[in-house]
Amino acid sequence: MKIIKFKEITSTNDYLKENADLLDNYDICVADYQTNGRGRMNRKWQSVARTNLMMSILIKDLKHRTNYTNITLLTGCIIHKFLSKYLSNIKIKWPNDLLVNNQKIAGILTEAQTKGNQQPIIIIGIGININQKHFDQDIDQYTTSLAKETGQIYDLDNLINELATILITEIDHYLDENNQFIDYLKQYLYAKNETITYEEEGKIKQAVLIDIDEDGDLIINTNNQLNKVHTGEIKIIR
Ligand code: BTN
Repeated sequence: MKIIKFKEITSTNDYLKENADLLDNYDICVADYQTNGRGRMNRKWQSVARTNLMMSILIKDLKHRTNYTNITLLTGCIIHKFLSKYLSNIKIKWPNDLLVNNQKIAGILTEAQTKGNQQPIIIIGIGININQKHFDQDIDQYTTSLAKETGQIYDLDNLINELATILITEIDHYLDENNQFIDYLKQYLYAKNETITYEEEGKIKQAVLIDIDEDGDLIINTNNQLNKVHTGEIKIIR
């Protein structure tokens, strides 16, 4: 495993994707600045240079796993554990965000690439707001950072090394055996038992968020009917 650092790159996810053949399992790419940082649903991920954590990890060996869809949820739990050393009251918003008091502190973008009938490779991209205290006007009220929450400034390199170590350990453990992270996720699930607004096929709807099941699917109650939702089928709106 190695950590490859860039002052500037298009996107750490793209770097791992484009160079996967030359890289090893669990190699990590970090950047001080991304010129084309990406989020889910074709959104941009913008960050001031040398201020926040932008990291991606490459998984080339899925071991015996064929179903890896829960890897984003697992990563959310890992980030939650990591940030909880510095901050309390963090929630995991299904499927890929971490929030503090309804404000986003981190996001995950997982991408898979398949070649022929080989095992797919997985790239997990992680953006965590660390030292940035002010954000663009349109997102400032919905966005937070470690520094905004605690008033302290953090050593990014230390945090990168710390997160890299726990990511590799926990992902490897998950791939080896069925790591029971679902119980952890249930404990810190955002908006449990609350009415959520969500978007499904372009329509805005409301439901009560009940729980998540053992497969990591969301269980919601829409008009007194329980529905299961797979990753990515709905978008919870804050
Ligand atoms: C989201 O909230 O929609 C996911 C954001 C993921 C951002 C990270 S930053 C490092 C990696 N490189 C990218 O281009 N995106 C991810």
